[in-house]
Amino acid sequence: MKTVSDFAAAKAMGQKIAMVTAYDAAAARVIASSPIDCILVGDSVMMVVHGEENTLGATPELMALHTRAVARGEPGKFIVADMPFLAARRGLAPALDCAAALLRAGAQAIKIEGVQGHVEVIRHLVESGIPVMGHLGLLPQSVHASSGFKVQARNSAAAAQLRKDAHALVTAGVFALVLECIPAKLAAAVTAELPVPTIGIGAGAGCDGQVLVWHDLLGLNPDFKPRFVRQFGRGNKVLGTALADYAKAVHAGSFPTAKESF
Ligand code: KIV
Repeated sequence: MKTVSDFAAAKAMGQKIAMVTAYDAAAARVIASSPIDCILVGDSVMMVVHGEENTLGATPELMALHTRAVARGEPGKFIVADMPFLAARRGLAPALDCAAALLRAGAQAIKIEGVQGHVEVIRHLVESGIPVMGHLGLLPQSVHASSGFKVQARNSAAAAQLRKDAHALVTAGVFALVLECIPAKLAAAVTAELPVPTIGIGAGAGCDGQVLVWHDLLGLNPDFKPRFVRQFGRGNKVLGTALADYAKAVHAGSFPTAKESF
């Protein structure tokens, strides 16, 4: 995928969209030769790379730094970067500055969590030529207001509100919408009634695409295994074996050999 119109085309043709998060050039280089469609430089970087408990520590500068690193890896894929905590709430000009910094760092679009108080800023960014991806359901940036990382919109009132919010985001101009941790039936219904693709995480198979966090899908943290994550690799084991082999070779004096020396 190279442009926002590829997202619309994928939905029109019923082609599922495979998205993954990435935070650095090394990951981007691996993604370059994969059939992954698009990359999210997520503010989940705070948790999976920086070891924090939530995403609130992300700043525009940090998101731009990681976005630039991903872009430098030349993945040749559409890159979406997260607007960090509160960046969309300081007024139109600061929001525009943050989005511009992310695009200048190499993103093709930005993602904004939630809808309350965001309609005007999303419209302003879209009218300024900045593609915006929406994000509903579990909103990690609102972790303290929503009492933790839990499945959202379980009752009919909350489900109706989410549907309304999704339509409000489409009217504001989003080109795609992440649905995080909501019942699969609701996600499928929203997907069927929206003209833009939905990308699910913990939202079932009825979405137009899926997104997973790099470390989760590669099994880099085997102890983190929520229901919606499938570990497609045994990254922790593979890396652990390589490190053990390296340490063993160093301790035994068998690395480096003459061929590995100058
Ligand atoms: O930051 C992130 O990785 C995200 C995904 C979980 C959708 O927003």
